[in-house]
Amino acid sequence: MSTGLLSRMRAALRRDLDAARERDPAARSTTELVLTYPGLHAVWMHRAAHGLNSRGWQLPARVVSQVSRFATGIEIHPGATIGPGFFIDHGMGVVIGETAEIGEDVTVYQGVTLGGTGKHAGKRHPTLRDGVIVGAGASVLGPLEIGEGAKIGAGSIVVKDVPPNSTVVGNPGKPVVVDGQRVDPEKIHHPDLDHTRLPDPVADALDCLIERVEELEAEIAALRAGVEPPPSMGDGDCRERVKAGIREARRAPRDAA
Ligand SMILES: CC(C)(COP(=O)(O)OP(=O)(O)OC[C@H]1O[C@@H](n2cnc3c(N)ncnc32)[C@H](O)[C@@H]1OP(=O)(O)O)[C@@H](O)C(=O)NCCC(=O)NCCS
Repeated sequence: MSTGLLSRMRAALRRDLDAARERDPAARSTTELVLTYPGLHAVWMHRAAHGLNSRGWQLPARVVSQVSRFATGIEIHPGATIGPGFFIDHGMGVVIGETAEIGEDVTVYQGVTLGGTGKHAGKRHPTLRDGVIVGAGASVLGPLEIGEGAKIGAGSIVVKDVPPNSTVVGNPGKPVVVDGQRVDPEKIHHPDLDHTRLPDPVADALDCLIERVEELEAEIAALRAGVEPPPSMGDGDCRERVKAGIREARRAPRDAA
């Protein structure tokens, strides 16, 4: 093995250790990190598996990856590309798919899935740019791009691209911060061409239904009492607005593809 390769490997190991030390306040010593952090063991075994895989030794690569899964509870396909400074905290239940690409200094917690959405070949797993953080139990599904410095909340299901410096939470994942700025929840419901801020047609439809039921109840009560029905309290007939919202939401994924 050449000295150049050895020193590159040593530098990569040191960077992984620094990442764990910086990002886990519970980390005490290098010995403790090396001996007891499954996230580190999984990343190191992945680097070996990825090396074998890129030299065409797919079967040995898969064997290393499965041994790593058995030992750490973390499954990383040997084909996944992982940059330096990657840290998996706790780790159990993490799954990273074959065509996932992970930039520098990315952090993921236990139970995270970077998965695909279909059976097609080719790029089908997400790309996480530098500095991304994915909270415990979150799933990022499909060939999406999660922009630099973005945060994915614990338990979120993300199926659309996330712009840089944004925070996405919930199922389906919705942005609560975009480009470092808090998103006004009202604005999320207004249709615009930014596909990361899609309207919520289901919530709009429910709002509309409740509005219509309340109007009809008031009308029936007025008819029973033999008086003039009260004027509509809502913002006019909401049905057209809801239909337009649903049409817009259906169009958005096709436009984004
Ligand atoms: C997403 C996250 C990074 C947001 O942190 P933040 O930038 O400080 O944002 P805030 O806490 O101000 O939350 C912003 C909004 O999102 C909501 N929110 C935050 N995290 C959420 C989550 N995981 N799921 C759903 N909603 C969430 C908050 O309630 C808040 O809503 P509001 O504006 O209606 O009050 C953080 O909450 C998170 O989930 N981190 C992952 C931590 C983790 O996995 N730890 C494992 C340790 S073992």
